[in-house]
Amino acid sequence: MELEYNIEQFMRGDSIQEEMLSGKRGMLMGLYILKYPYRKILLPLAQKLVFVNPDLVSYAATVVAIGTGFCYYFAFQSPALLLLAILLTLIRMTLNTLDGVIAIARKKDSLLGEIVNALPDRYSDLFFLAGIALSPLCNRPLGLLAMASMFLVSYTGMLGKALGMEWQHQGPLGKVERLILVMIFSLIQYLVMLKGTPRAGFWGISLTPLEWCMLLYILMGQATVLNRLRGMIAQITKWEWNKKEKYQAIQKKVLVVYDSATGNTRKIAHEIGQCLRAEVKKAGEAKDIGKYDLVIIGTPNIRKFPTGKIIRFIETHKTKLKNYALFVTWGMPVWGPYATAACFGNMQKKIGRKPVGVFASKGYHAKYKTCAGHPDANDLLLAYLFGIKLAKKLGVKA
Ligand SMILES: Cc1cc2nc3c(=O)[nH]c(=O)nc-3n(C[C@H](O)[C@H](O)[C@H](O)COP(=O)(O)O)c2cc1C
Repeated sequence: MELEYNIEQFMRGDSIQEEMLSGKRGMLMGLYILKYPYRKILLPLAQKLVFVNPDLVSYAATVVAIGTGFCYYFAFQSPALLLLAILLTLIRMTLNTLDGVIAIARKKDSLLGEIVNALPDRYSDLFFLAGIALSPLCNRPLGLLAMASMFLVSYTGMLGKALGMEWQHQGPLGKVERLILVMIFSLIQYLVMLKGTPRAGFWGISLTPLEWCMLLYILMGQATVLNRLRGMIAQITKWEWNKKEKYQAIQKKVLVVYDSATGNTRKIAHEIGQCLRAEVKKAGEAKDIGKYDLVIIGTPNIRKFPTGKIIRFIETHKTKLKNYALFVTWGMPVWGPYATAACFGNMQKKIGRKPVGVFASKGYHAKYKTCAGHPDANDLLLAYLFGIKLAKKLGVKA
């Protein structure tokens, strides 16, 4: 169950925790996107099922996973069982989605619910993966390593919670990705077996498709562990910074000056400002620039350039800037990072000196509705870390 959702977040396909640190989901981003339409389809059904106890739905998902494990175990003799395993996996995913949305509809939120959320799901993973690992279609050590890798993924996810942070959900091998991958590889396994051999070779390595899937679980699982560790380290760095109030040691005067039409750049500006105990001002309101040791200039990306107000600010005050840093928010997927690099270049050219640091963040593009939800909690955390980096440049020992 995903108890901490509200319906809107649920529809969007991300939880509060995922919003916290969903940043780099890596190569399986495409699969993650599938979650959204799937939830949209299920929502009306879930709303009709509010009378059902969501915990029972969670347990039913585990029973289904046991069935899936058996299908994999016996699939060597009867390949059609692979198709049944795919169907059961789909049913498990559906139940896992339904229990969350039913729980929200019933406003059921309890610690006991958290247990029901976590534990049966781990058992479900254990059952379906044991079925694969122990079947003749899979090299046993490979299957067991995949299982271990997957548990480490869950462990690092929970470690954040255990340390008092949020659950860590980021990384390329979350639950949905895991299940979608195994369905794809099960189908390939079935098709390969129809031809009479269970193996499929790539790059001169001959493995069964299910073994390929386990190999991916191991590699992507470890990438996910690293991702989650990085997320935790980022949060810890912010905590430590606040706890020891190192920012109080900042003796230098810092100004954050920004322009913002729809609020994205303003949010980032305030986050950096809070980290550095800086004054935060809109471009038109900033005066007396010469008194600041560091001026941090923020703008939305407008076709590779800063806004007019920021251009005017730069032209008026560039000779008074002692040190400066830049940040940009952007909202066009694919094109955005390139446009942002160009935007940094254009600002630097106008000022005629190198900045002490630059930072970029996604920001919801109100016209094209891209980068929805950004800047999210993870973006703000990264902005805060950028502030810490700048503080170090100002001589504060972090
Ligand atoms: C006129 C206009 C042009 C834009 N051009 C780009 C662009 O070239 N590349 C990009 O990634 N985003 C572009 N964006 C998106 C914004 O940079 C982005 O949504 C930004 O976060 C908005 O910041 P704000 O909420 O502080 O105004 C453009 C937005 C507008 C309104």
